[in-house]
Amino acid sequence: QEVEEPCDDEMFQELVETLPKAKGYNRSYYFYQGFWCPPSYFRGLLSFQKHFQAFDTHIILATLPKSGTTWLKALTFSIANRHKFSLQDTPLLNFGPHNLVPFLEKLYSENPCPNLENCSRILSTHTPYASLPPSIKDENSKCKIVYVCRNPMDVFVSHWHFVGKLRRPEYMEQLSIDEGFEMFCQGIHGFGPYSDHVLGYWKASQTNPNKILFLKYEDLKEDIVFHVKELGKFLGFPFSKEEEDQGVVEEIAKFCSFDNLKEMEGNKNGKSPSGFPNSVFFRNGVVGDWSNFLKPSMVEHFVKLIQEKFDQSGLTF
Ligand code: A3P
Repeated sequence: QEVEEPCDDEMFQELVETLPKAKGYNRSYYFYQGFWCPPSYFRGLLSFQKHFQAFDTHIILATLPKSGTTWLKALTFSIANRHKFSLQDTPLLNFGPHNLVPFLEKLYSENPCPNLENCSRILSTHTPYASLPPSIKDENSKCKIVYVCRNPMDVFVSHWHFVGKLRRPEYMEQLSIDEGFEMFCQGIHGFGPYSDHVLGYWKASQTNPNKILFLKYEDLKEDIVFHVKELGKFLGFPFSKEEEDQGVVEEIAKFCSFDNLKEMEGNKNGKSPSGFPNSVFFRNGVVGDWSNFLKPSMVEHFVKLIQEKFDQSGLTF
């Protein structure tokens, strides 16, 4: 489905009216190019797809919401800027990772042609791989993509809590976990369905491992020091032997840990560019917290989904 970017409100409305819609957790989503797009990002998405020109120096952090975006932003920012800012004077002390690494769909919703020269070289997106602008995927482009995926049960539980926290009680009742589960299973959540999103980046990373680094939240949790080094290498900022001996890798890992990051001023009291309190991006950051919330029948469903969708892919959870 190819859609020309609408140039005015009337054309935009006409386009929106042609798209399938579904009521999601707290809003309706538009079904576009095979995924469910939150309406607030739809206009920005169209501009991003049409106008974004990747620089060779760009680093694109791609995720499905609630998979570890905030963590990946902090890690990448710290690794790529370590010669510019020490951890004693990093902007992460005062600003949230979302304030330092712009979300492209949001950036383009504010301005259909933002000046990328003055923008951070690290950028983020929730757009599925198939719908990324051509210049990112162009084989001649040297820009890099890092994707982080997370076990679907933890993504769902994290998302359900996130939406619950952002809910304005005067407008919306608390969504039961059963209702939330139903929608998630149908793929109706921001940039879902889950399996298409993950598999899109997974397959692309298999074909093009030098361009796309595919990470798992659970692996980061298990051995963050190893992954900080891997990220540095992949992004073209390898840690020197001297840095390793000085413990720079461990320092970055510790600085970006859940417990440390959530206490930073910008994360305790700041707001994200989308207007959310940055604190909502920090809940408990635990692997397997789903076991405290999901009923056995829900777990059964997820296990089946993982088997059906991922068994042949080589990706395990
Ligand atoms: P939980 O709700 O399971 O705690 P995203 O950044 O993609 O929105 O994902 C948010 C999830 O990542 C939340 O998961 C949040 O607590 C967790 N998270 C945020 N910062 C983290 C960090 N530094 N380390 C580990 N997990 C983190």
